[in-house]
Amino acid sequence: MSVHVAQTAEALAERAADRLGSLIAEEVTRSGMCAVALCGGTTPGPILRRLAQAGLPWTRIRWYFADERCVPPDDKDSNYRGAREALFDRAPVPAELVFRMEGERPDRDNAAGDYARKLPERMHLALLGIGEDGHFASVFPGSPAVEEAVRPVMAVQGPKPPPWRLTLTPAALRGTRALMVAAGAGKAAAVRRALEGDEPPSAVPSRLWRAHEWVVDRAAASELKAVK
Ligand code: 6PG
Repeated sequence: MSVHVAQTAEALAERAADRLGSLIAEEVTRSGMCAVALCGGTTPGPILRRLAQAGLPWTRIRWYFADERCVPPDDKDSNYRGAREALFDRAPVPAELVFRMEGERPDRDNAAGDYARKLPERMHLALLGIGEDGHFASVFPGSPAVEEAVRPVMAVQGPKPPPWRLTLTPAALRGTRALMVAAGAGKAAAVRRALEGDEPPSAVPSRLWRAHEWVVDRAAASELKAVK
């Protein structure tokens, strides 16, 4: 487990962008390309805007999504739109290297299956946020997606609006290195439960990423014994 506590939200975005950039560059050196899954929500925006300024090997990076809300790609709640505005429109990212989930499709299960067929053999990296209930991507507490070992992508209904979503499952993230990010006091309990609690992943799905790298701000770290 590695937890970096940033003093401010800006410092969090700086650190997370630096780390993500380094991890991508390392993977491209190692295997010639890097497959990255991006989460949605509000935390990634400042990170991706900074990443867009990095001199990355843009033609060697394939961009996927950890989850998507079941809305059209230009909707304000669309994770694709968020990533497009923060990164793809600001850096020389070839459009053919962006693999978005078709959240707008009414046939959600088929959309999930179709996306599964687009996934790489291994998703090298994932930028993941954590919800106040301990969810990551759209893998919510008590959801069958938490223990899904076969289907890499599922259509799920969750408590966070908009309710219907497409999400990668743990089956799609085997061998993935996660960079977990969390900002604000609202996340403090979830971060503690994920990093130091003894509840199972079915209750705190982000616990699955306990052994990975975390970048959190002081408020989100405020309940961590290891930091106090
Ligand atoms: C989503 C996200 C979700 C997010 C967390 C944290 O599509 O909603 O993928 O898992 O990362 O809910 O959201 P915030 O960054 O907005 O706090």
